[in-house]
Amino acid sequence: LATGATLCGPAGAADKKLVLGFSQIGAESEWRTANTASIKQAAKDAGIELKFADAQQKQENQIKALRAFIAQKVDVIALSPVVETGWGTVLREAKAAGIPVILTDRLVKEADESLWVSFMGSDFVEEGRRAGRWLLDKTKGGKEEVRILELQGTVGAAPAQDRKKGFEEAIKADPRLKIARSQTGDFSRAKGKEVMEAFLKAEAGKKVHALYAHNDDMALGAIQAIEEAGLKPGVDILIVSIDGVKGAFQAMVAGKLNVTVECSPLLGPQLMQAVKDLKAGKTLPRRMVTEEGVFPAEVAAKELPKRKY
Ligand code: AHR
Repeated sequence: LATGATLCGPAGAADKKLVLGFSQIGAESEWRTANTASIKQAAKDAGIELKFADAQQKQENQIKALRAFIAQKVDVIALSPVVETGWGTVLREAKAAGIPVILTDRLVKEADESLWVSFMGSDFVEEGRRAGRWLLDKTKGGKEEVRILELQGTVGAAPAQDRKKGFEEAIKADPRLKIARSQTGDFSRAKGKEVMEAFLKAEAGKKVHALYAHNDDMALGAIQAIEEAGLKPGVDILIVSIDGVKGAFQAMVAGKLNVTVECSPLLGPQLMQAVKDLKAGKTLPRRMVTEEGVFPAEVAAKELPKRKY
């Protein structure tokens, strides 16, 4: 199926249960766990049969899962790609088999954009800008340099690249803001802690003003490292992160995190609607962007009870 393609079956096929093959990245973060739960629940609610494959962060497992979905002749494939590149061959196989692919959460980098019918998820560059703007605002008017440590997401992943790009773009507005160190923490709490420990050792004797973590889990890991180093997270070092998971709101209420930029994992209902729309012969929008906010520590206590993930 090409771009904008629809999914129309023979007469009578309308009653058949739709089958969706979903290739998930893994379970690296609170965000991902909530995303998986949203997909599973929404499939149940929509009466769609879900074939779910957890790739444990490995692209090769995702490619295998996609091939299995093609062999099983599922109606639609949904893919959350762990990295941006290397998808051309398998996506062409899906297209040749007439199975439409919806990208969810993360985009791929392929010249032939007809290999997927729609991409739903957040604007990661904008999330990075929002994080950067918050820090600009928080540090405005000062005279000294603002030294920032950055914990990047998984190497080669769209949110890692885009969040870095957006943040750098925003902080350019004030030359005092400088990224002193930047390394991947693989979007996980354990790795975030480990890398932060190494950062703090390397920075001994120097002032660190802020930490920018590409997701909340790495920020939460880094908070532990900061405390173990005898410093006060959120006070001695400002902490900006992305996702808006409950754990981040709890850390804000405890005064250990300063702000989280929302990235919603609750894509399940939208995905199931898209699958049904394809089945009904509708053309999906090429891009569906999730609407999100920014939550500073000042509103955390009020917002926490309302958080769904
Ligand atoms: O692709 C979304 C990102 O992946 C989330 O920010 C992160 O927590 C997850 O692992």
